[in-house]
Amino acid sequence: MQVAIIGAGAVGLAVGSCLLEAGEGVCFVARGGAAADLRRRGLRRTGIFGVAVAGPEAFEVVESVGALAGHALDLVLVCTKTTASREVAGALAAVWGELPGSPRVVVVHNGWGSAEIFAEHLPRERVYSARVITGFRRTGPATSDITVHAEPVRLGSLFDGDLRAMGPLAEALGRGGLPCEVSADIARDLWSKVIYNCALNPLGALYGVPYGVLAEDAVTRSILETVVDETFRVIAAAGYETHWSSAADYLRDFYAHILPPTASHESSMLLDLRAGRRTEIDAQCGAVAALGARHGVAAPINAALTELIRAAEKR
Ligand SMILES: NC(=O)c1ccc[n+]([C@@H]2O[C@H](COP(=O)([O-])OP(=O)(O)OC[C@H]3O[C@@H](n4cnc5c(N)ncnc54)[C@H](OP(=O)(O)O)[C@@H]3O)[C@@H](O)[C@H]2O)c1
Repeated sequence: MQVAIIGAGAVGLAVGSCLLEAGEGVCFVARGGAAADLRRRGLRRTGIFGVAVAGPEAFEVVESVGALAGHALDLVLVCTKTTASREVAGALAAVWGELPGSPRVVVVHNGWGSAEIFAEHLPRERVYSARVITGFRRTGPATSDITVHAEPVRLGSLFDGDLRAMGPLAEALGRGGLPCEVSADIARDLWSKVIYNCALNPLGALYGVPYGVLAEDAVTRSILETVVDETFRVIAAAGYETHWSSAADYLRDFYAHILPPTASHESSMLLDLRAGRRTEIDAQCGAVAALGARHGVAAPINAALTELIRAAEKR
């Protein structure tokens, strides 16, 4: 397979490393220092699935999505942040006619709504989603560390795309060291991570405490439970289902099994705010509040958390 990876950050580098280990062709779309580092040093993956190194001759690097023109690609993996979705989707649409064979595009994003943005710009049935609950960190130039792994990466389509097209990618990632499977119900998989993130990520950033502390404090516990309740109402109104029968069912599982392994984790939004970066709040609570508004369901706590995080970004 020939695979373009847009975004040479924590996820893009690690996924690219696994594909190279599996013997697939990789072209990174990286910019600035990230492109220079890849060309000079090659790439390095460390962490729980072992060390893998690829020299600069093992892959290609281009510095813009437009520079993919003329590349015969089977797949394009979008590994940027959700904040860049409109820009990247627009750039892909602009070059689409010059990509022989019109590749499948896999959006590797947390949150809800990114695949819809890409589907507005590209043929919908070519747009796929990945649900990832593995942890990656950039630990140095062109280096990604895989820190935790909860479940295999899931690949699927929200738009009736042919799931057989995801088989070779799932197989190659697994062969390269990252467990992965095709999902017939990617919406449920994506929502399971959105619910968790909406409940914990902004609150963890605003209070500056690890996730476990949020569940111990009566005030934050009540807020996070309201977020879960609102999110379940929105999901149902929008016509989706989850792996749980109700918000109460989810919360039982959350306190018993889902939260404990990550009780000491710091919120990624807290890390973004500390580093002066934009957060992905618009694809989390912001997306839930917007979807709720479209379907006549109020989600005021999700909306308030979105505004508070946006205000914190400005500070
Ligand atoms: N990290 C994790 O553990 C993890 C786990 C599950 C899911 N995810 C999700 O995966 C996505 C990527 O996360 P990440 O941690 O890999 O983020 P990251 O380390 O910040 O990497 C994003 C990369 O995209 C690059 N980029 C942004 N716009 C671009 C453009 N127009 N063209 C080319 N490159 C561009 C950034 O370059 P610059 O550095 O120049 O801005 C950066 O290298 C997010 O949606 C995240 O929520 C992450």
